[in-house]
Amino acid sequence: MENTPKWYDAHLQDYRKVAYIKSKEEYDELYNRSINDIDRFWSEQADKYLTFEKRWDSVLKYDFNTADIEWFGGGILNASYNCLDKHVDKLKNKVAYYWEGDNPAESKVVTYLELYNEVNKFAAVLLANGVKKGDRVIIYLPMIVELPVAMLACARIGAVHGVIFGGFSAESIASRIQDCGAKIVVTVDGGFRAGKPLPLKKNVDEALTRCPEVTKVIVFKHAGMDLKLDPSKEIWWHEAMADPNLPSYVKPEPMSSEDPLFILYTSGSTGKPKGVLHTHAGYLLHAAMTNRLVFDLKDDETFWCTADIGWITGHSYTVYGPLINGFTSVLFEGVPNYPGWDRYWEIVAKRKVDKFYTAPTVIRSLAREGAGWVEKHDLSSLKLLGTVGEPINPEAWRWYYHYVGRDWCPIVDTWWQTETGGQMITPLPAVAPIKPGSCSFPFFGIDPVILDPDTGEEVKYPGQEGALFIRKPWPGMARTVFGDHQRFIDTYFSRIPGMYFTGDGAKQDEDGYFWIAGRIDDVINVSGHRLGTAEVESALVLHPDVAEAAVVGFPHPIKGQGIYAFVTLNQGVAKTDELRKGLVNLVRQQIGPIATPDAIQWADALPKTRSGKIMRRLLRKISAGQIDDLGDTTTIADPSVVDTLVKGRVVLNA
Ligand code: WTA
Repeated sequence: MENTPKWYDAHLQDYRKVAYIKSKEEYDELYNRSINDIDRFWSEQADKYLTFEKRWDSVLKYDFNTADIEWFGGGILNASYNCLDKHVDKLKNKVAYYWEGDNPAESKVVTYLELYNEVNKFAAVLLANGVKKGDRVIIYLPMIVELPVAMLACARIGAVHGVIFGGFSAESIASRIQDCGAKIVVTVDGGFRAGKPLPLKKNVDEALTRCPEVTKVIVFKHAGMDLKLDPSKEIWWHEAMADPNLPSYVKPEPMSSEDPLFILYTSGSTGKPKGVLHTHAGYLLHAAMTNRLVFDLKDDETFWCTADIGWITGHSYTVYGPLINGFTSVLFEGVPNYPGWDRYWEIVAKRKVDKFYTAPTVIRSLAREGAGWVEKHDLSSLKLLGTVGEPINPEAWRWYYHYVGRDWCPIVDTWWQTETGGQMITPLPAVAPIKPGSCSFPFFGIDPVILDPDTGEEVKYPGQEGALFIRKPWPGMARTVFGDHQRFIDTYFSRIPGMYFTGDGAKQDEDGYFWIAGRIDDVINVSGHRLGTAEVESALVLHPDVAEAAVVGFPHPIKGQGIYAFVTLNQGVAKTDELRKGLVNLVRQQIGPIATPDAIQWADALPKTRSGKIMRRLLRKISAGQIDDLGDTTTIADPSVVDTLVKGRVVLNA
């Protein structure tokens, strides 16, 4: 692997024979049409991927100053119809999901017909429990088939789902329920992680002590836990589904193109996580089209996106994208290292997965355990690999390419966000050579530009780094922050008026390839999970002994970024390990295990400007150990603070 070429194209000739998009010329032609001939191009795509009950009146209307965006206005369709009814006759015996349990002895094969039946039945259960069009339904389930069933049942009756990742705490669940005003929660007794049961229902119980407006809880029995339900509001999923009076068919609710489909909470640089809202037609089209073209997925191929459905990646590439296309996917409940570090490869070999999509943090942790785990399995079914969530470092890229991809599979490094709904900048496998670490070129309809975030001027091309903006709307983009449209405008459309601000730094090289540098705001990316430093700080300062806290991300060999907290205690409080543990627990309880700080450094004082602003830039350097390169410290009120912090830096052995 030493003499690695500048780019990789071993697959290119082979893919040019089979791929949907066979050359750079073809890509350029389509790309230009997607940007300049919006009405025609996007009408064709919508006709190809979606079935409307009533066709749209206009393709696109928008105003980026007020952040009002309408795609396929006047159109009527239903997401569940497009995922199931549309092709259930033809695909009834085709596998929709190969479900693989945390326990390798457990697996399930679910066909399109079975999924269709379950979704209809659960839609009837929701209706019977009073759920109406437009109501929000919170779903807190592990990676089991009932998760897509619940989502699609909501979509079928026009309810808006809000899936919460199983790694979030009771506190996080409560604040999301309150924010979206859900009256019903769908959950489970427990899930499994590496053989250990996780008491998910317990988290819901705790959350609901603060959510009196929730009047119904539907509980799926998965972990065989001995639970007593509260008969005044809680019901078992299996009992509700067994009701003989339940209709086996529920007519899909006619939804306008711009009716809400789901809310997904994500972290920003300020305040609490925001409820990013996605709507019907545009989102569904973007998810379906990218799923087919970016992975160059063929109808007889098996796809596996390892992301949890609790994140946008799972929404778009385990649920909506694959099902609209009628693809077969893997749905995996467990973790990559249980029972051994070859669990992924065992499943790839067992299900003959053709195209595989995961996160750089996973690749780094697998690579650390050695290639032996990969080599134990026959991975010859793999034809394409993908990554998402954070920039991929060249070592991880080469390991993935060499050991998993046999020095042949293209790797599509897909850059996108919860707010973008689907992939935005990404290689397509037959278009151009791939450069490790670059997400290549924009997908159809995506018009990115790199600007100086303060002046709004374009940076020098090629090579200069700036902030990544998107000039025009694309179908899958978020439409608002639930309940707070002004926050949507302020966060995404105000930095440079008239453009969507991504929050990421980026540059373009001399060949036009895009390279993402990571967040330029106070969002950190821990194992591909977004966290706002402000959220972690708010959790820490809840502790009665804490006077002040500043949190930054620092480079972490596996997680990409780790969480480093500088904490100032109240006068006279002893700096004990006990207290440190207490603070870690407090953060886990307030946000969830994914926000566990990797390091807590006691700081008698924090470096501040004379106007009292914490100098995070300095804290980032200190946490990363870049102390020879602290930059300009002349604006700091008390320079001795920095020396003390440098001496007290916590060194981690990850
Ligand atoms: C980062 C996940 C570099 C980026 C789909 C973005 C990436 C944030 C990549 C969104 C990539 C995602 N290369 N960085 N291929 N993909 N990111 O909302 O900082 O969980 O803004 O969406 O992840 O994270 P989110």
